[in-house]
Amino acid sequence: MVKTPTIICVMDPNNYSFRVTFEKLLAFVQPEIEYGGKIHKVVTQRICNRPYDVLHAECPYSAIINRGTHWNPHHNSYLLTVGRETYLLNDMVSFQTMNKNTTYGQMYQLGLHIPVTVALPQPEYEDITGDPRAIPELIFAENEWFDLQEIGDHVGYPAYLKPQSGGGWIGVTKVQNGKELADAYDRSGNKPMNLQKAMAYKEFVRSVGIGPQVMVMHYNPNANFSHDRYLRGPDKAIEFDFLSSQHAEEVKKICKVINAFYGWDHNSCEALLTKEGDFYLIDFANAYPDSSLISLHFHFPTMIKDMAKWMIFCAVTGRKKFYDFTRNWDRYFAIQSQSALSYHEKLDRYNMLADEHFETQKFEQFCQEKLHNFDTQAFQFFASKQFSEVIENEVRYYFKISEEIPQKLAHYQGLHEFWLRCERDNLHL
Ligand SMILES: Nc1ncnc2c1ncn2[C@@H]1O[C@H](COP(=O)(O)OP(=O)(O)O)[C@@H](O)[C@H]1O
Ligand SMILES: [Mg+2]
Repeated sequence: MVKTPTIICVMDPNNYSFRVTFEKLLAFVQPEIEYGGKIHKVVTQRICNRPYDVLHAECPYSAIINRGTHWNPHHNSYLLTVGRETYLLNDMVSFQTMNKNTTYGQMYQLGLHIPVTVALPQPEYEDITGDPRAIPELIFAENEWFDLQEIGDHVGYPAYLKPQSGGGWIGVTKVQNGKELADAYDRSGNKPMNLQKAMAYKEFVRSVGIGPQVMVMHYNPNANFSHDRYLRGPDKAIEFDFLSSQHAEEVKKICKVINAFYGWDHNSCEALLTKEGDFYLIDFANAYPDSSLISLHFHFPTMIKDMAKWMIFCAVTGRKKFYDFTRNWDRYFAIQSQSALSYHEKLDRYNMLADEHFETQKFEQFCQEKLHNFDTQAFQFFASKQFSEVIENEVRYYFKISEEIPQKLAHYQGLHEFWLRCERDNLHL
């Protein structure tokens, strides 16, 4: 049988641990998969920053991990030019059209819980008004006065004023009253903002979806440092059953449904579980979900394995990417309009559409038949010196104070040892 190289392209210039671990894992496992009358030798290749012939752009890749092309117009145009010939993880057609704000509105229309949110136009237009050629009375003729205090009262306090574009907690302010709202809005500059009701919650849950696989993690936004947010607390790093099995299933479905609805392969979903037992969603349109070893630690190997399985599946089976991401929306809204169905019944039906989109059954069968040794091989890789070196390098890249390094290394290696122990038990090794 013919052996052919099947190339997965890796594009993530901003994240050392993600791209290097992904590449090293595949080089270690050396997958050779019989499918469609060929043996696919799956290898990775990193995308390089180089000129390309726009009219004859070539694509040697069967799948591309796109992480961050929204920051890189050169790569973005290349990826979309060749997009039909490959499988692009996270296309920018949908991510550049959809944002935090549109997704709030649409998921609310589907019946998911979203806190009360009002979109506010930006208070400043310095980039326009500073231009001597601009004629303000023409440009601003359609700006309408609004009463910020009335909007604050409608949303209720406390509330969050945050950029519609989102990302990295930048420009996010919690306001307790009208005065604080007015001050924060005045400071918000030339970014359109959302004013959103602050939810009281008993659990902050962050899910990460990769294809049909969803990883559910507890999240502590009050941790002193962003890299400690996935730790349960000072005495306990990880808690397994922090959600009931029903809530865990529900939040997985929510994440998978959102991703299928928009055609996203890799996205995170931040959900707040109230004491009444409802998940309120606050942040779920993320073209570049945090995938760093420093923040994910214990969860990092599972995330890399999920990514590897999904990308191998897409590359080997020649999964087709759709760029008309709205194509199934009518089917979702047809379910939504059935007033006899409860929230959970609708979610189950949306979930069936999501499984159809991700070909979940075919993917699971592929993993069982073609990747049956993958978990064990991945375990050997994660237990190897190669991966300890990734941990060590990443810690040295991230933590700049040299006296801190030994303690940080012990912390991350300890968490990883714990993952290895759990994985050994899971796999009965
Ligand atoms: N409606 C809300 N209720 C409670 N906490 C919120 C709410 N909105 C934002 N936050 C807090 O602010 C943080 C940043 O807001 P988020 O919407 O996630 O913005 P970003 O896109 O910058 O991550 C959240 O992680 C959460 O801790
Ligand atoms: Mg967030």
